[in-house]
Amino acid sequence: MSKPKSVWEEFFADKRSGGHRSSAEEFILKEAKEKLFHLDGGERLLDFGCGAGELLVYYAPEYERLVGADFSASMLEEAGKRIIEKKHENITLILADDKTVWEKLDSSFDRITAAGVIQYLTDEEVDNFIANASKHLNKGGKIILFDLLNPRLYPLWKIGLFSRDFGCWNLFRKIGFEVFTIISAILKNRPKDILGYTHKPCTIENIANKHGFGMEYVQSMYYEYKYHAIIS
Ligand SMILES: C[S@@+](CC[C@H](N)C(=O)[O-])C[C@H]1O[C@@H](n2cnc3c(N)ncnc32)[C@H](O)[C@@H]1O
Repeated sequence: MSKPKSVWEEFFADKRSGGHRSSAEEFILKEAKEKLFHLDGGERLLDFGCGAGELLVYYAPEYERLVGADFSASMLEEAGKRIIEKKHENITLILADDKTVWEKLDSSFDRITAAGVIQYLTDEEVDNFIANASKHLNKGGKIILFDLLNPRLYPLWKIGLFSRDFGCWNLFRKIGFEVFTIISAILKNRPKDILGYTHKPCTIENIANKHGFGMEYVQSMYYEYKYHAIIS
């Protein structure tokens, strides 16, 4: 018997894109360049929650061997198409979640990364993720978590504080929209916020410290309300 799907597995079951601010190739390329700067080398990379491979295909020329893992078959299907289109032969895709991925890996990595994924894990799941990742990390390797939702900045972004047309009217409109979204999500038994959970930087740092790592906090370049956690 197959295991029941989690609320997020259900949510991503038919999704086909990573929901970047813009799906324009030039924008994704800029995002990938920012991420490659922070990834800062290494030869083997695991992209956990690789989604449709939008970033993974830009990481590929910089690495010898890459593994992309995701629990959404539709996302992986899109990633597969992108990989063929870009003619990359150094990427393996694995259908797995944060618990099963580790037993499916046959090598260790210099970089274990996840972009826009940690928001779908609870604090306890992040703790287990970092514990498992540390066992699959080569000496001197890094775990680089991109674009976590900052609990201080995310509510401000939601009410439009960072938008160019921020004003009273738009503020009320956004608040009204939020209330409507929450009520309709409750009625339809869907996640209240499709962007998942926020994580305090200090919580991630404490988890990193618990597993013997340090954490560097970096503000995300293209998302005002997100941050990166560079764990090494
Ligand atoms: C917002 S998308 C980001 C995709 C990709 N990293 C990118 O930046 O384009 C989040 C991805 O994480 C995957 N995901 C979320 N929680 C996961 C989990 N527990 N195990 C495996 N994949 C997960 C989803 O299926 C989805 O493809």
